[in-house]
Amino acid sequence: MIGFCMTGSFCSFEKSLTAMEKLAQKYEILPIMSDNAYKLDTKFGKASDFRERIKSITGKNIIHTIPDAEPIGPSIKLDCLLVCPCTGNTLSKIAAGITDTPVAMAVKAHLRNERPVLIALATNDGLSGSAPAIGKLLQRRFVYFVPFAQDSPFKKPRSLVCEFDKIPEALSLAIDLKQIQPIIST
Ligand SMILES: Cc1cc2nc3c(=O)[nH]c(=O)nc-3n(C[C@H](O)[C@H](O)[C@H](O)COP(=O)(O)O)c2cc1C
Repeated sequence: MIGFCMTGSFCSFEKSLTAMEKLAQKYEILPIMSDNAYKLDTKFGKASDFRERIKSITGKNIIHTIPDAEPIGPSIKLDCLLVCPCTGNTLSKIAAGITDTPVAMAVKAHLRNERPVLIALATNDGLSGSAPAIGKLLQRRFVYFVPFAQDSPFKKPRSLVCEFDKIPEALSLAIDLKQIQPIIST
């Protein structure tokens, strides 16, 4: 079973759900959402609509509290935990060992089993505020990245976004504890 964590990069929700649909054809999916991803309505859609779609794709209730995320590790064994989309906020928390959201807690709980975490980054500050977290996590055991690139170098010069269509291949390699290459999209 694959854990599929969603955090508040709302503009990436459609691409993330497309990836979720694709993965659901091959894997059982356990959905997990950060508080913000779970409850905020934004210009990209209503939270309740996204929640319904996720439930319908996975056939499961969404883990959205820290107590519900805690058993990932002691009793819910996952083959891989995908964070898609991963905000700069969540990335920085993971890098710093902060676990005050359901997603950060799920990552911590899962890493205790020394199983892979795969990060699908989408953040406007990837080459500024979140850059130290990327650097730290590139050196962390059991943490892998979906290939990423600058998505709009002149309009958003510090932004990085992953290649969502590479998720199935990156996941399949991460399950075998391998990093897809190239990490930086060409
Ligand atoms: C409409 C909207 C779009 C956002 N898009 C992004 C994004 O693409 N990447 C990002 O890192 N943060 C984005 N944010 C900010 C995050 O939602 C914010 O940092 C939040 O605290 C993330 O919490 P979480 O990581 O626990 O989900 C966006 C916020 C809003 C309201």
